[in-house]
Amino acid sequence: MEQARDQWATKIGLILAMAGNAVGLGNFVRFPTQVAQNGGGAFMVPYFVALFLLGIPVMWIEWVAGRYGGKYGHGTLGPTYYLMARESVKPKTAFIFGIISGMLAFSLTVLMNSYYLHIVGWSAAYSYFSVTGAYFGQNPGDFFSSYLSNYGQVMLFWGVTVVLLAIAVGQGVSKGIERWVKVMMPLLYVFAIIMIGYVFVLGSPVDPNWSTIDGFRFIWTPNWAYLKDHFAAVMLAATGQIFFTLSLGMGIIQNYASYLGPDDDVALSGLATVSLNEFAEVVLGGSLAIPLATAYAPKIVPPEVLQQGKTEALSWIGEEFGLGFSYTSLPNVFVSMGDIGRIFGAMWFLLLWFAGFTSAIAMYNYLAALLEEDLNINRKVGTWIVFVIYLIAGLPVVFIDGYMDQVDAWVSFQLTLLALFDVIVAVWLFKPDNFWEELHKGAYMKVPEWYKPIILYIAPILLLIPLVGMVTTLVGATLEWPARIAIIIMWIIGAVESYYSIKKKYGEELEKNEVIIKV
Ligand code: PHE
Ligand code: NA
Repeated sequence: MEQARDQWATKIGLILAMAGNAVGLGNFVRFPTQVAQNGGGAFMVPYFVALFLLGIPVMWIEWVAGRYGGKYGHGTLGPTYYLMARESVKPKTAFIFGIISGMLAFSLTVLMNSYYLHIVGWSAAYSYFSVTGAYFGQNPGDFFSSYLSNYGQVMLFWGVTVVLLAIAVGQGVSKGIERWVKVMMPLLYVFAIIMIGYVFVLGSPVDPNWSTIDGFRFIWTPNWAYLKDHFAAVMLAATGQIFFTLSLGMGIIQNYASYLGPDDDVALSGLATVSLNEFAEVVLGGSLAIPLATAYAPKIVPPEVLQQGKTEALSWIGEEFGLGFSYTSLPNVFVSMGDIGRIFGAMWFLLLWFAGFTSAIAMYNYLAALLEEDLNINRKVGTWIVFVIYLIAGLPVVFIDGYMDQVDAWVSFQLTLLALFDVIVAVWLFKPDNFWEELHKGAYMKVPEWYKPIILYIAPILLLIPLVGMVTTLVGATLEWPARIAIIIMWIIGAVESYYSIKKKYGEELEKNEVIIKV
């Protein structure tokens, strides 16, 4: 019954895979958006606080949990959290924690990918349009709308992306994912660095009043007044961004960590993942979209707004910054660059594509592992089942206006909720001493003692703040039937799946309500 589980072949492969998992559209699109919409330098203060008090602790928790589940042959949250919870509660109670965690992870990996993959697909399309110069000489906003309403084209670029994902995941962890990320991630960093080199020499390309420096200043000057006036909103945005960007609260860090050996380091590797992501976010992500947008402000901000002054123009950029920004305003920048803009634009969108692809691969693998390990479906077959699931789950994103935003609000809420389960199950129920011991098993570094209370108390308390904040927004938000149905269906399937997968292997102990299986 025990079959040998796939494991990461090399340390560098593992680290790049984890970095690829974390580094995504969040770093290059979502981060600048959040910064722009939350007062620039005002955002950065709570951002770093959330990184140290929440991001790093939860990252360690997920690595520990993942490696622990892997020892028992599990790469999904249901069984893993069942096992951890039963360290302090009876199997029947642990069962409930397993079911809820597994349900949340399943629903997240499906729902989030329903739109994430589409955005990755847009990036593929726009890499191509940049090379061919398709949007040059056109209004980029109109071009984007007409792209989105050409369903055939949208599905084509989505399809190319997801077929490649299916191939990579079908090849397995060490022979597939690891090999793909070893090519994509270095290219991603190289592209970003080349582009930033160009940004640094850009100065004031269109108007002496507007320079890249304005953009950097906007991000790096702490804006205490703004922070004071919008404290709750900025805190919420900052914690949300930390979760999103580090891929926490989803089950996919655990899934990747489950392919470690039982004595492989998690402490330093977890920290390395955080560092690589933050470098790609704060340094690389922070040096592209915003400085470019400010330097080219006269080309993208409407003249009426420009006349009102710099602050107004900057806040216009902030408002406009959003998902569409990369696909509407930035193309304007590329067009203004002339011929080099084609190469620059292609690099930008290819960078987004790599970033999104290597994150999507982790969510994809979660579901492939679920089918493979929980339900005994062959990996190659399973990856195509996942393909069909994604195809169906992604259709409402294409055809129903507003669907994506409604689902996204619930995704953010569930990410935070699942992170709270991380602390409750993988630290508290697993027992803090066990957790600390696991964290240091085979570790290449010692986590200082004073960090313990941060993991044990501060992180969960801080998690409650955004959770409560989000509940209030969700209660007030409109949720139309398509989104409501999708979310409920995913919960039901996720709960049934976890119920079944835990019961299948641990049915006997559940019946006796005593722990039997131990490795
Ligand atoms: N961390 C990814 C990013 O920054 C997003 C992501 C979140 C991917 C959760 C998978 C799971 O884009
Ligand atoms: Na990220």
